[in-house]
Amino acid sequence: MELNLKDKVAIVTGSAMGIGRAIALTFAEEGAKVVIADLDEEKGKAVAEEIRAKGAEALMVKTDVTKLAEANQMAKAAVDKFGAIDVLVNCAAAWRINFFMQMTEEDWDFEIAVCYRSVLNCTRAVLEHMIPRREGKIVNIGSDAGRVGEPNQPVYSGAKAGVIGFTKGLAKDVARHGILVNAVCPSMTRTEKIVGMEKMFEEQGGDAWAAYQDRMQKIVRQYPLRKLGTPQDVANMVVFLASDRANHITGQTISVNGGYAMV
Ligand SMILES: NC(=O)c1ccc[n+]([C@@H]2O[C@H](COP(=O)([O-])OP(=O)(O)OC[C@H]3O[C@@H](n4cnc5c(N)ncnc54)[C@H](O)[C@@H]3O)[C@@H](O)[C@H]2O)c1
Repeated sequence: MELNLKDKVAIVTGSAMGIGRAIALTFAEEGAKVVIADLDEEKGKAVAEEIRAKGAEALMVKTDVTKLAEANQMAKAAVDKFGAIDVLVNCAAAWRINFFMQMTEEDWDFEIAVCYRSVLNCTRAVLEHMIPRREGKIVNIGSDAGRVGEPNQPVYSGAKAGVIGFTKGLAKDVARHGILVNAVCPSMTRTEKIVGMEKMFEEQGGDAWAAYQDRMQKIVRQYPLRKLGTPQDVANMVVFLASDRANHITGQTISVNGGYAMV
């Protein structure tokens, strides 16, 4: 299926690693020009090199997406380099796992800033450039936590529910400008962090490895497809929604989750 993404300009926040990296590489495989907007300059530059090795163009812009001024600078750098912005994927996020009563106000502010406020910042920054052109696609990475809630992640769950609500409201606001906005919700995904943790326990062996395997089996049993998704599973949906093949889809929330939550 031809996605018509060749030479389109796609900004992917949080693409120095994990799901964002897979999204950035998949855009590159489709011939898009990719802007990596991430706090981690070293890892971001490495992803830019991977993209160039695939024969596509890439720009790494060190950005703290919790700051509107930095989001504005990043969008300007994208336009200065590539002339326009066709796609924004809001993927950057971070979380702290803890029971609500053990969380501090600083924990709340951190999660709300990086999971929700960041989406507002980068969206505001790119709309400046998309609205005059009367076209654009925004894909927000939510989470099944925002749809069904996750224990020990109540503030993150709330922030991600906020991302879903924002997606719907904004989709109604900007449809008249030719801009489409959707949300993609992963559930637990086998990013390099999880693969790394698995290796660590395997090397430890003994009780630690047995306990880890037991815990993972219990988690995986909650998934009708009996496996965790990969970053590539999420990237496939994101790139589809950013393509011309999704020109009549807006304001939607789509989970990529092996059937974990059916909402
Ligand atoms: N991994 C999962 O199991 C899972 C499940 C559901 C939803 N998600 C969502 O998918 C997205 C990607 O998750 P992941 O597991 O790949 O994350 P990750 O931690 O592997 O990568 C997150 C990236 O965001 C960057 N980042 C963090 N704070 C930033 C900031 N202030 N400014 C700019 N960049 C910043 C990090 O440097 C990193 O490169 C997130 O939105 C997350 O909430 C992930």
